[in-house]
Amino acid sequence: MTFPTVRLRRLRQSPVLRNMVRETILTRNDLMMPLFVCPGTNVNKPISSMPGNSQLSVDKLVEKGRELFDKGVQSVLLFGIPESKDETGEVACHHNGIVQQAVRALKKDVPGLFLVADICNCEYTSHGHCGTIVDGDVNNDLTLETLSKQSVSLAEAGVDMVAPSDMMDGRVQAIRSALDDSGFYNMPIMAYSAKYASAFYGPFREAAESAPKFGDRKTYQMDPANGDEALREVELDILEGADIVMVKPALNYMDIIYRVKSTFNIPVAAYNVSGEFAMVKAAAANGWIDEKRIVHELLTGLKRAGADIIISYHTQEIIQDL
Ligand code: PBG
Repeated sequence: MTFPTVRLRRLRQSPVLRNMVRETILTRNDLMMPLFVCPGTNVNKPISSMPGNSQLSVDKLVEKGRELFDKGVQSVLLFGIPESKDETGEVACHHNGIVQQAVRALKKDVPGLFLVADICNCEYTSHGHCGTIVDGDVNNDLTLETLSKQSVSLAEAGVDMVAPSDMMDGRVQAIRSALDDSGFYNMPIMAYSAKYASAFYGPFREAAESAPKFGDRKTYQMDPANGDEALREVELDILEGADIVMVKPALNYMDIIYRVKSTFNIPVAAYNVSGEFAMVKAAAANGWIDEKRIVHELLTGLKRAGADIIISYHTQEIIQDL
């Protein structure tokens, strides 16, 4: 049967009908909001390339956390800007590290907010790379040690989930066994499994003060040209014990999200990164696009592609419409 008997426009005739047959609906449950915590008190330092986002001291972060939670945001992803950096990122493993402080303060004042900690060294190393440098490159196995320590320390501080974003081989296994050895066998790991060496992270590196001082991240993050390799990364992370796998960035990698979701039966997260956010904001500021509609369409597209969780800086602005 085909035209004129079949007319697909029939089901588009009214809003009620369109609502009834809609396949993908973005909800508050899908979204996670990234936040940046920095030292000091009463600090709210706007990030110029990410309008509406700031580096916040712990006191201000708690205010923000409460405000977001009251609006309907259920989970946040925490990034830290430490007082001082070192060669290996050990500062990220201290009991009183910046994110550890943030986690304890948020858990006390906004206990309902689900806290996820990004696990990586790039914000904490003096050279800005994601691990320990040996002979001019990041040493994989030494980095596993700091990542494991950082994870256990944040678990002790009370975080609800850890999210390693470094792209070292074997980190999920190392972190899983370190957590288990410390009794945190119920701590979920959301692995940044297919994370690309992307120019879309530009604004984030300003926000987190984490740009590498030499070279780039191409020896550990993935080549944007590769799709099959993303499936291998995801498969290994699943075998190592990842509970959720992530594709990052999101918009230019919807094919990867789709392939991961159709290949594996595991929750998939998509990270709508800083550069993707900044492009939308810049066009909206110029009056060139309808920001609200664009954001809704972009994030719905990520869910349609297969993302169960969407990490986005737009969360705080669209949550109330969902
Ligand atoms: C840390 C990390 C990065 C992002 C999240 N975790 C930056 C990077 O790898 O350089 C990017 C997030 C964004 O651009 O919004 N490794």
